[in-house]
Amino acid sequence: MSTGALVDRFGRVATDLRVSLTDRCNLRCSYCMPAEGLDWLPTEGVLTDDEVVRLITIGVEHLGVREVRFTGGEPLLRRGLVDIVRRTTQLRPRPETSITTNALGLTRTAHALAEAGLDRVNVSLDTVRRDDFLTITRRDRLHDVIAGLEAAAEAGLGPVKVNAVLLRGVNDQQAPELLRWCMDRGYELRFIEQMPLDAQHGWSRAEMITAEEIFASLRSVFTLEPVGEPRGSAPAELFAVDGGPHTVGVIASVTRPFCGDCDRVRLTADGQVRNCLFAREESDLRAALRGDADDHEIADRWRAAMLTKRPGHGIDDVSFLQPSRPMSAIGG
Ligand code: 5AD
Ligand code: SF4
Repeated sequence: MSTGALVDRFGRVATDLRVSLTDRCNLRCSYCMPAEGLDWLPTEGVLTDDEVVRLITIGVEHLGVREVRFTGGEPLLRRGLVDIVRRTTQLRPRPETSITTNALGLTRTAHALAEAGLDRVNVSLDTVRRDDFLTITRRDRLHDVIAGLEAAAEAGLGPVKVNAVLLRGVNDQQAPELLRWCMDRGYELRFIEQMPLDAQHGWSRAEMITAEEIFASLRSVFTLEPVGEPRGSAPAELFAVDGGPHTVGVIASVTRPFCGDCDRVRLTADGQVRNCLFAREESDLRAALRGDADDHEIADRWRAAMLTKRPGHGIDDVSFLQPSRPMSAIGG
């Protein structure tokens, strides 16, 4: 049996585990899913709550995982979410926990999640204009997202972070407006460059709004001063807005990749390890789980899965190929 952490061939150590709890979603963001949705994973293929918790436990107890983020699709659609969170926060050493959510339904679960020990939420919100929200997500639910954000803050799931993707010709003129809106409410806004992970393969480098464009747009209204240490493994570059205390983050995944500092590893809802968002191969832990492997064998397989992690995503290489699993089935 090998021991120790999730180390790859380039010396990177994965301590941040992203667990996708479902590939389903109640929105249809155009940069993520087609209007009609996707062929969802069959129920029997999705890990049970017990299976998910067992893998997280192995991650924390054997593999040095210190942070667990629940993603989807939309993780609030997972019935066992509160219970999974509670069992995760009972592990020792207690991992930090958060969810990346569209906030639909968060008014109903924010308190239970906080009570279960959840530390923070990241809410995806690209515009605060109702018509553009409908255009982007294909659902008229802006109001519910705003209510969900308020519920999260009230439940103490803060600092509440908001993730935004800008789309050319849709919301690309709204960066300052969104930032003002978030600052007024005490939410920390981060812009994320759009990545080639949509199910429809509609991403185009030329269409993408770059971090440079985001800076230019924000600087037409605010002053931005870099804050803090060099970003380390945190992908967001943080800036103080108008001298602080509010900050804004920009995650330049495409134009300024941070793969060299990556400390993440991902688990899909059907129990596959992905050593990178853009990985083209996965390692099956579900078969081991269901085939009666013991914790050590599973930990060994998981460590082995890290050895094929590539040095970078290679989006700019001519040979780049988009992974076959879309973002909605990987999680952010
Ligand atoms: N590029 C960048 N971010 C994306 N998200 C979904 N698809 C993409 C993409 N192609 C974001 C969502 C959410 C998080 C899970 O990832 O907006 O904030
Ligand atoms: Fe759902 Fe998130 Fe995809 Fe939007 S980006 S459709 S909220 S999974």
